Amino acid sequence: MAPGSTQTLLGRKIVLGVSGSIAAYKAVGLLRLLMREGADVSVVMTEAATRFVGPLTFEVLSRRPVATDLFAARQEMLHLTLPEWADAVVIAPATANQIAKYALGLADDLLSALVLNTSCPLILAPAMDGNMWDHPAVTAHREALRQRGVTVLEPEEGPLASGRVGKGRLPDDTVILSAIEQRLFPRLDWRGQRLLVSAGPTQEAIDPVRFISNRSSGKMGYALAQAARERGAEVTLVSGPTALTVPPGIHYVPVCTAEEMDKALTAHFAWSTVLIMAAAVADFRPAQASSTKLKKRKEALNKLDLEPTPDILERLSLRRTSQTLVGFAAETEAVLPQAKDKLVRKGLDLIVGNNVLAEGSGFGSDTNEAVLVDREGGVTELGLLPKRVLADRILDVISTLPCAIKRSAAAKKPPAAGNKN
Ligand code: C5P
Repeated sequence: MAPGSTQTLLGRKIVLGVSGSIAAYKAVGLLRLLMREGADVSVVMTEAATRFVGPLTFEVLSRRPVATDLFAARQEMLHLTLPEWADAVVIAPATANQIAKYALGLADDLLSALVLNTSCPLILAPAMDGNMWDHPAVTAHREALRQRGVTVLEPEEGPLASGRVGKGRLPDDTVILSAIEQRLFPRLDWRGQRLLVSAGPTQEAIDPVRFISNRSSGKMGYALAQAARERGAEVTLVSGPTALTVPPGIHYVPVCTAEEMDKALTAHFAWSTVLIMAAAVADFRPAQASSTKLKKRKEALNKLDLEPTPDILERLSLRRTSQTLVGFAAETEAVLPQAKDKLVRKGLDLIVGNNVLAEGSGFGSDTNEAVLVDREGGVTELGLLPKRVLADRILDVISTLPCAIKRSAAAKKPPAAGNKN
């Protein structure tokens, strides 16, 4: 067994489709990871992908011929036989062009014809420029595919091949692997749980055009919501303003201020079995928001009276019946002692501490390095992980808390308000 491998894909057959993005070279690393996990991988490339990486590279590493041409493969009918052979079809990178073809049911090359014949789990790992990802056509196509049950991963943010910085980088190998595992072996260990999760920043008005807020992106809270949903939980996500897409199947309650977040969480608290407070709630708000825009006078800028916002978690902790309470401690120093202090002060079962100044951690980042502390004093250090993977680890730890699993039966039914996504 290769070092570090847990052979989770032993005996599983995967079609790895590679389409023509510069990120095609990263599919080589993904292929190696899938093989290390024990998978039998058959690679299919689009004509454009072969301009970026030679098929021979994939052929040598996968120890299988690489198919590229619908017509060259006509004898074996690969567009029919490969998806029948596979346990999962993974397209990484998936270009805007391929995503559009799948959404529309076009089949003018081997990969898209194969996708049209796929009935096993289909996972797309997109990579493209940020402007393309945000284009209404691409947005509509990925949403249509998600509605049909296709897993379309979110690209990562960061430097793009164009030189711009944006959302469009191929998701990390480990995120793709975890999505494959999720589809092949759906863990429904959170079935019966009702997760109430808060995410994102709050905005506290100074006047009608200005507000106080913070750098929270909401990524950690959304990842937790999605992970719990995929593991069978019912999920209500109360979120401050973010640029994120709400994952499917989640009861979404948008809020803006700390007060609105407090109201929404209080309204859903009795329904929940687990509360994860991942939001970065503003600690202070202007004591008196002006009803008209403040003029650009020196006095107005020199002084702003602030008052503390309610500590939502502390308040809910006093009202708890049987809920498991999880908080976050985003710190810039002495993470562990501060996390322990908050755990006790807020009456929590678990706290997730992280140093927001550490490389690759904190607000806006796609990764995070966290330390988990439970009320029995147990400490779990988790190395630098993509937030989606970290979310699963946090749920794993919550599941093992003595208070957690047995509580699901006690809580009440959800309130009717809110949008269903
Ligand atoms: O005390 P501090 O704000 O550092 O604690 C962080 C934890 O408390 C987070 O889980 C955060 O969501 C929650 N919190 C809250 N209400 C506030 C401030 C923070 O529930 N007003």
